[in-house]
Amino acid sequence: MKTLTIQGGQTLSGTVRIGGAKNSAVALIPAAILASDPVTICNVPEITDIEALSNILKHLNVSVKRASESIVIDPSKMENKMITQELSSKLRASYYFMGALLGKYKKVTMYFPGGCKIGERPINLHLKGFEALGATVTIEDNVYTITADKLQGASIYLDTPSVGATINIMLAATLADGTTTIDNAAKEPEIANIATLLNQMGAKVSGAGTSMIKIVGVKELNGCFHEVIPDRIEAGTYLIFGALCGDHLKVDNIIPSHLEALTSKLEEMNIPLEIGIDYIYISKSPSQRSTNIKTLGYPGFPTDLQQPFTTLLTQSSGHSKVEETIWENRFMNVPYLNQMGANIKVNGMKATVDGKTPLHGEKVEATDLRAGASLVAAALIADGQTTITNVEHILRGYEEIVEKLTNVGAKIEINEID
Ligand code: EPZ
Repeated sequence: MKTLTIQGGQTLSGTVRIGGAKNSAVALIPAAILASDPVTICNVPEITDIEALSNILKHLNVSVKRASESIVIDPSKMENKMITQELSSKLRASYYFMGALLGKYKKVTMYFPGGCKIGERPINLHLKGFEALGATVTIEDNVYTITADKLQGASIYLDTPSVGATINIMLAATLADGTTTIDNAAKEPEIANIATLLNQMGAKVSGAGTSMIKIVGVKELNGCFHEVIPDRIEAGTYLIFGALCGDHLKVDNIIPSHLEALTSKLEEMNIPLEIGIDYIYISKSPSQRSTNIKTLGYPGFPTDLQQPFTTLLTQSSGHSKVEETIWENRFMNVPYLNQMGANIKVNGMKATVDGKTPLHGEKVEATDLRAGASLVAAALIADGQTTITNVEHILRGYEEIVEKLTNVGAKIEINEID
């Protein structure tokens, strides 16, 4: 198991360069197999989720070549095989192989894990979309077999604007006969990033980024070159680090408009920001005010920043409120924050934070990816040393976090323990 040790109290200054978006890359890589020849994707983050997806591709006899931030995926000799539990259970986004393999071969057999720590995480809307396109779904001991004689375009309404279901249905519909519409589609920027890849391959996808997406089926998709958009959640996490202990910290290579829900909150809290074309400077506030957040689908406040943001709220003077509307179990970081000195009360999917509370170093555990980020944020400002265990969760989604934080002044190291 890997652990992080952080000596709190340092000031962060200098430049952090943000990498490609995890939640784009984990969909772009499965989508690439829809092409009949090589797809090159650049700005792919160096995170363990990408390694897990590459292993699934190799299992399917897809050649994968990584060269620094680019990956070349050649599906020309691929074989449609069952995706095993060992391969599929490494990450949730393995479910994008359902839409990609169904779209390409009209058949997919794969193990898929059920609920995950932050909530039940059902995939009923994904399956509803596949069935609407004419597929039959059978599930036996967590093995999904999804088949169709042919895929016929359909009008699909999503009960909730699910990011995963929107993308998975898009993937399955690109090679279907006829036109598919997805109503109440999710509007996250990552969805537009995937739609752009598909259109570069020769698909006909329109409306991505709005709540109505149209896909006109085509006969074949070809290789192309594409780029992953900057990771707005990694960027938001480093902005929160900078709000806690930054002195003119530059968060660089970002799309500020993807972060408006966060930056408007930071301004409301009297945190000094300087927003540029593709960067933001941020510093710790001399008098940080409390505020309230409610997580919503894009462009609302992103659920993936709720946990690190809750750490920031512990340094606001006054009473703040947090309402989590997406995941039913996304406060697992709170007991550890309270152990470090915070004053947070959780009631179902709501929490209150009373500050300003000084934090002190403790031994804590990363229970999930963004909870881990929340604990890193707390450790950066805690008095003394903090040890975070189970940091494999953090490495799934934060590229080179030790190097990036060290380069701007943090005292952080990673260790391997038995
Ligand atoms: C994506 O998960 C992200 N993961 C999550 O980020 C993110 O929290 C989430 O979108 C919301 O923005 C990836 O992109 C790999 P959803 P996804 O389907 O697609 C319900 C991180 O930290 N729902 O948009 O799984 C679901 O229960 C991760 O990077 C159904 O009811 O999320 C939830 O309440 C964590 N049925 C809501 O919709 C379904 O079939 C939104 O889920 C699907 C979802």
